[in-house]
Amino acid sequence: MHSCNPIIVAIDVSDRAKMNELAAVIAPHAGMLKIGLELFTKHGPAIVTDITSKGGRVMLDLKLHDIPNTVKRAAANAAGLGVELLTIHAGGGGAMVRAAREGVAAGAREAGMPRPKLLAVTVLTSIDQETLSGELGVRRSVGEQVVALARMAQAAGADGVVASPKEIKALRAACGRDFLIVTPGIRPAGAAVDDQKRTMTPGEAAAAGANYIVVGRPVVQAADPVAVLEAMLEEMAHAS
Ligand code: C5P
Repeated sequence: MHSCNPIIVAIDVSDRAKMNELAAVIAPHAGMLKIGLELFTKHGPAIVTDITSKGGRVMLDLKLHDIPNTVKRAAANAAGLGVELLTIHAGGGGAMVRAAREGVAAGAREAGMPRPKLLAVTVLTSIDQETLSGELGVRRSVGEQVVALARMAQAAGADGVVASPKEIKALRAACGRDFLIVTPGIRPAGAAVDDQKRTMTPGEAAAAGANYIVVGRPVVQAADPVAVLEAMLEEMAHAS
């Protein structure tokens, strides 16, 4: 995998053999593979080391959210698996984010590996204004809450955020150019949108300031995943 390749492919399948088959084809042409809760809760940490043991780079998308001490230990364990990116919920507060940062640092030190970068999830894209204000009782708008949580997470040691395409510009302005912005909801022009509501093309996301894009089905379900990846890379290279 190329270290500067900005495409993270979400391997959202439950079957371990199928995942490894896809990973073998996709990994050499992608920046990273994203392992989420579905695979992790079925196969455990072995699903991660299936990839990292072969030199693959992994974004482990567990969206940790618990008391600081528990998150610290879980983050340390994730670091020991050799993942490159780990997600946590900013909603756990500054103390939790700081604990996660200490955890990844300690776990990486112990395993003799580079420290995974921490990505904070701010407001889930499944939460709309009505849910945020009504059920959750938050007075800010969704956009304000996203930026406020991102700033808080950054101050507490997060390296970046996972953000929807429409949040990229405000986050880049608020958090500066060194803060990582990783963006799902990406569809190459002409691809099926599936259940994604607001999408951007890879080129639009790159131009808006995303460091990495996350793409699942358009690659994983393609007849020729490598051709789709190469076309997206080409588009991103000419975007900014
Ligand atoms: O197949 P698709 O490209 O829609 O997959 C996108 C991946 O990014 C999935 O793993 C999905 O869970 C994840 N994701 C997302 N939207 C978010 C956060 C994560 O689509 N807001």
